[in-house]
Amino acid sequence: LQKVGLVGWRGMVGSVLMQRMQEEKDFDLIEPVFFTTSQAGKAAPDFAGKDCGTLLSAFDIDALKAQDVIITCQGGDYTKEVYPKLREAGWNGYWIDAASSLRMAEDAIIVLDPVNNKVIEAGIQSGVKTYVGGNCTVSLMLLALGGLFEKDLIEWVAPQTYQAASGAGAQNMRELISQMGAIHSDVKAKLDDPATAILDIDRQVAEFIRSDDYPKEQFGAPLAGSLIPYIDSQLVSGQSREEWKAQVEANKIMGTTEKPVPIDGLCVRVGAMRCHSQAITIKLKKDIPVSEIEAILAAHNDWVKVIPNEREASMHELTPAKVTGTLSIPVGRIRKLTMGPEYISAFTVGDQLLWGAAEPLRRMLRILLN
Ligand code: HSE
Repeated sequence: LQKVGLVGWRGMVGSVLMQRMQEEKDFDLIEPVFFTTSQAGKAAPDFAGKDCGTLLSAFDIDALKAQDVIITCQGGDYTKEVYPKLREAGWNGYWIDAASSLRMAEDAIIVLDPVNNKVIEAGIQSGVKTYVGGNCTVSLMLLALGGLFEKDLIEWVAPQTYQAASGAGAQNMRELISQMGAIHSDVKAKLDDPATAILDIDRQVAEFIRSDDYPKEQFGAPLAGSLIPYIDSQLVSGQSREEWKAQVEANKIMGTTEKPVPIDGLCVRVGAMRCHSQAITIKLKKDIPVSEIEAILAAHNDWVKVIPNEREASMHELTPAKVTGTLSIPVGRIRKLTMGPEYISAFTVGDQLLWGAAEPLRRMLRILLN
């Protein structure tokens, strides 16, 4: 059995990864070794259903060097500190990483095997040892639109995102719920009285959202009852870093960096828990009937699900409430736009902790074990 070192298994993405590895019985195929940044010597967790001894220090290069594969969800700072030391120490094992730090490195492949299995297989053959999960919005968009990309039918894509609190972290998810509760508590008396005028309720809510009593330490601005039209840092291009990732990462995943498909749009944080949604405008290379577009999308992978462009189906099947906690990637609202027959719309939803983070990593491990 291959020795697989697990780092960052306690955090949010790591916990989802552990859950998925249990569900898919990945632990039966490996010798798991659990690492920790703070609790070395304590007992290892029992996810694997077998005795995994004690936790080893995630900064112990010799202990890390003994692993055939290392999977880390510990975050970018950890990767930046430990990865170079480990490679310099001569370790030639497989490094599978959820963090973004190594994504654009030349000797790293971004993994999303339903879309780029060929790129991954070629990488393994040529000796690539570093495999990194993609940005969540990018991976979710490619799973939804994979069929059109694969058939080279896309001239450009403009995704406008509706990103969930989880993308900002566990504390942000908690804060979103606190914000919702705080708004309700503040206005409850008026809400309970059917005689209160709605504009009085609205005025109080608006004042509360703008006040210092509204909890916004994590997000830095109100999310519940509002939205935040900027994600990640500011770049000189005018794009946010999250927006910049769409084109560079998607084309790297697909192996089309030499002749990249333009992909650019605005990224917005909304009050969903863990599903990112995207409203997408696509310019196709030619006029294709909607029925054919739907068939191409539906045939691409086992998780994408075309939702008919109907009100009831869209309201119930194409929402974060429906998709959360599942691997399903619904794509719907597909129609021709009035700009011309090559312009189509689409709306897609995906769980950013599953396909957006943990799932591509465990699937990469499975590919290495085959
Ligand atoms: N950067 C993403 C977000 C999550 O803030 O939603 C990680 O890919």
